[in-house]
Amino acid sequence: MSRIAYVNGRYVPHRGAMVPIEDRGYQFADGVYEVCEVFRGALIDERRHFERLSYSLSELQITPPLRQGALAIVVREILARNKIGNGYIYVQVTRGAAPRDHVFPGHSVRPSLVITARHVDPAKGDQLAQKGVSVVTMPDIRWKRADIKSTSLLPNVLARERARQSGAYEAWLIDDSGMVTEGAASNAWIITESGTIVTRAPDHAILRGITRTTLIEMLKAQGLTVEERKFSLDEAQRAREAFITGATALIMPVVRIDGKPIGQGTPGPTVLKLRALFHDFAARST
Ligand code: PDD
Repeated sequence: MSRIAYVNGRYVPHRGAMVPIEDRGYQFADGVYEVCEVFRGALIDERRHFERLSYSLSELQITPPLRQGALAIVVREILARNKIGNGYIYVQVTRGAAPRDHVFPGHSVRPSLVITARHVDPAKGDQLAQKGVSVVTMPDIRWKRADIKSTSLLPNVLARERARQSGAYEAWLIDDSGMVTEGAASNAWIITESGTIVTRAPDHAILRGITRTTLIEMLKAQGLTVEERKFSLDEAQRAREAFITGATALIMPVVRIDGKPIGQGTPGPTVLKLRALFHDFAARST
């Protein structure tokens, strides 16, 4: 079956789908995006993803290309046309195509909207979670507005590539005061020696992950407390358990940080329970 993409009002074959060479996303990374999990045909946390998209657009003064209701219809159409049961959708909005100039183009330039969908076998993530993943740390060299889900991801790309080259799955980024900000494409969490679940508070230095927000709600509903505060690499390496969250990794145990085993060096009981809890939540959303 050939994949279908949505590009500026049209459903077109994914292969060969194009935007103009002067699209500002291409020239300036002047755009934002969302990645939303699809589980058994349902969009997980759709409302929150759309809200964050609106936030990113408004922070960059990009006009939303569609109202949320219309966007929801197009997203569903893309899922249907690509027969996606499990996987994710990708939504990207850029400021549009205009002759290259750093300043914003005039109001006649329409933002550009691209939506694609991809199938993922959920069993693969579950297998990985049984073993857990390694992370390596590196300085956080990103700009100071990581809360905006911008397509400007070069530092994240370099960090993930360096992680891959050293046999790790993810890179944890360290700020100038030696504190972990987040992963290159995920939020970072630890469960301390005393059993407290900790993740950084949402400031401009991290993306306010939707998986993160939903997990915090789930933890609170279970009567568990979450401390939203900074933690250092040293504290992370002494943690009982560690994990990352994100729309593609979901809740993924971290078993090594810079080569040092976390806990027993295998996924801990709490993080595996949280992953199962998150699966239940996704199943209830279908
Ligand atoms: N990334 N932090 C960063 C820097 C991210 O890129 C992501 C997600 C997250 C987690 O956010 P959420 O729970 O909303 O997925 C945190 C997506 C999956 C990506 O870029 O592919």
